[in-house]
Amino acid sequence: ALERTFSIIKPDATKRNLTGAINAKFEAAGLRIVAQKRIHLTKAQAGAFYAVHAERPFYDELCEFMASAPIVAQVLEGEGAIAKNREVMGATNPADADAGTIRAEFAQSVGENSVHGSDAPETAAEEIAYFFSGLELVG
Ligand code: CMP
Repeated sequence: ALERTFSIIKPDATKRNLTGAINAKFEAAGLRIVAQKRIHLTKAQAGAFYAVHAERPFYDELCEFMASAPIVAQVLEGEGAIAKNREVMGATNPADADAGTIRAEFAQSVGENSVHGSDAPETAAEEIAYFFSGLELVG
């Protein structure tokens, strides 16, 4: 089915001018960018977005990193977009990511791993709503 998923191009990637290279991989995989904005999160905003990880030992480091430079927040649309985006991203830890994936090519570590993507339909809907209004989604 036609699906939408939420994506972030993270600070390590925006700082290295990789926005276009990453978007090229999404588009080549058939994912349409139906919303996109570059924003610089505060640490509190990053913390609210990643609230599900609040008890993890890396939470503070994760929030600092996500507020360290601009991100690009996006909505990607396509057939099976959630799974397809996860395929294109590759494994969370770049050391485990398949060749040709975004994380294999661009990520620097498990924390500075260039992209985030929703893991399920419910989280995709929540994450899209955190960053975008319905009027900003242009299919
Ligand atoms: P993401 O998909 O954005 O969701 C949570 C993030 O936490 C994850 O990608 C990783 O970038 C980050 N993360 C996971 N494990 C670690 C870790 N051990 N140290 C730092 N960050 C981590």
